[in-house]
Amino acid sequence: MYDFKPETPLAPEELYRELLAAAGALTDGEPDAVANMANVAALLWEFLPDLNWAGFYRVAPAKSGGADELVLGPFVGRPACIRIPFGKGVCGAAAESRATQLVTDVHAFPGHIACDAASASELVVPVLRDGAVIAVIDLDSPTPARFTEADAKGIEALAALLSERI
Ligand code: SME
Repeated sequence: MYDFKPETPLAPEELYRELLAAAGALTDGEPDAVANMANVAALLWEFLPDLNWAGFYRVAPAKSGGADELVLGPFVGRPACIRIPFGKGVCGAAAESRATQLVTDVHAFPGHIACDAASASELVVPVLRDGAVIAVIDLDSPTPARFTEADAKGIEALAALLSERI
C-alpha cells in the first residue's frame, strides 16, 4: 500500500514539492499511460483539499474520424462528459490555446461545460509533448476562486513531469 497523503496541512510550495515527488515515484519506469494517469488522479485527490473532480482528458481521434478532441481519461469524482471538442468549455480552451486556464467563477466562463453542478471554480493545465497538447489535467472545486497562481504553477510542474509518462 502507498500512503502518500500529507499528514498535516502544508504551504503550497511544500505541498506541490511532495505531490511532485510522489507522482515521480509512482510513475517512474512505468510505461502504461492509463496506470500513470489513474495513480496521479488519485494523488491529486489525496493531496489537494476542497475538490469535487480531479483527472485527465486525453487528446484522441473523434468518433466520426474528424479532428482530434478531448476524451475522458482517469479521474476521481462524479461521472463526467466523455468528449469535448477543442475550443469548447474550460478544458477545450486549455487544449486549443495550450495555456493554463485558471477560472475563479465557472458560471462566468463562456461555454463552461457543467459536468457537475457543484463545480464553482476550475483549473485546467495542458500536458505538452514536443510542443503539442496530448492531454489536460482538470481540477474542479465547489468553492469559488479555490485555485491560485501557486496551484497553477504546481500543476504546470506536474504536467511537465508527465509529458513523457502518459
Ligand atoms: N467543466 C469542464 C468540463 C469537464 S468537467 O468539469 C469534469 C469544462 O468546461 O471544460
